[in-house]
Amino acid sequence: MQIDSLPTREGLGKGLFPILGKVIYGKYPLVYLDNAATTQKPRQVVEAMTEEYYNVNANVHRGVHFLSQQATDLHEASRETVRRFLNARSTTEIVFTRGTTESINLVASCFGQAFMKEGDEVILSEMEHHSNIVSWQLLQARSGIRLRIVPITDDGLLKMDEYEKLFNERTKIVSITHVSNVLGTINPVKDIIRIAHEHGVPVLIDGAQSTPHMPIDVQELGCDFFAFSGHKIYGPTGIGVLYGKEEWLDRIPPYMGGGEMIKTVSFERTTFNELPYKFEAGTPDYVASTGLAQALDFVTSIGFDAIQAHERDLTAYAMQRLMEVEDMKIYGPKEVSLHDAVISFQVGNIHHLDMGTLLDRLGIAVRTGHHCAEPLMRRLGIEGTCRASFALYNTREDVDALVEGIKRVKQMF
Ligand code: ALA
Repeated sequence: MQIDSLPTREGLGKGLFPILGKVIYGKYPLVYLDNAATTQKPRQVVEAMTEEYYNVNANVHRGVHFLSQQATDLHEASRETVRRFLNARSTTEIVFTRGTTESINLVASCFGQAFMKEGDEVILSEMEHHSNIVSWQLLQARSGIRLRIVPITDDGLLKMDEYEKLFNERTKIVSITHVSNVLGTINPVKDIIRIAHEHGVPVLIDGAQSTPHMPIDVQELGCDFFAFSGHKIYGPTGIGVLYGKEEWLDRIPPYMGGGEMIKTVSFERTTFNELPYKFEAGTPDYVASTGLAQALDFVTSIGFDAIQAHERDLTAYAMQRLMEVEDMKIYGPKEVSLHDAVISFQVGNIHHLDMGTLLDRLGIAVRTGHHCAEPLMRRLGIEGTCRASFALYNTREDVDALVEGIKRVKQMF
């Protein structure tokens, strides 16, 4: 299956994603399967940012002059694009951050300061990325909070009955990933949120790995906070989003101090700006916000129906073809409908680093290692995996190249 509006494999270099036309180690086209780490950028994202630097650049929200107003308009229009993309109620609920990591750190720090004291608990899961573990441990070191962990099955599914048992009067927040960056597991976030709300507990969803692959409607989900990164959804690096319900953002203190986030400052007392600016100290990356808006428009113009159909087909095809390889172990859900466009695998006792390095020489880019999820690796009893992750520009031929590559590497051992 091919998304009609995308260029064919042969046309990639000249088309929307110039980098995919690169020749690496004499191999063409590049088989780029490291999309869970970062996606490649369509031409319109890069061109919109270049255009802004060349023709608009000026600091936002501060100047009365023409360029400053134009840059401010672009920046705020991008916020509206993000609002629409997430179906948030208002742009006051859209905070620009540097990415998912900063968004989670903001919530852990500010929500923690406002609502958590020694002995209070946050519920995380065994499949969290380090950003959703360490940020809470920093709070733990400051305030003595406790981390409670939802265990997973051997197939990489959350044990929902264990989740429910973790709630008690000290539970203050749940912070869980939507899609695992290692296992590809699509977590039942609606149930997670419903159960937490039945206990009067708010929920932060880490959407870094879900936003590129499925439509997100924060009002329908009912989550209290939602974090995602621009660079994983065809946008620029260095920009991300924290969605927060106004009632929470209003009640938690600012994250960083500086320009933009204040109303008035004196040495005796400072008052803070309105939402969302209260959380946006310093000059924002207003060029990256333009790039992010372009990326979201790009995804929207293709549509999640087409993207999901394409990526599900690729995931199912890859899982089926990878199993042709002798001694192949695939981690995560066997059920394809629960398995997003990320496949972690291990072949016999070939070290994941050797596998990744040799695949690279064949022009196939995959990720190797612990994928910033060491506790999950410990749970699986391994040090790391090889990980192939798909984006909308990948094709069945990419999967074929990966499988043939793995077979060649296997022969070398
Ligand atoms: N979090 C990114 C990954 O999973 C870097 O690769």
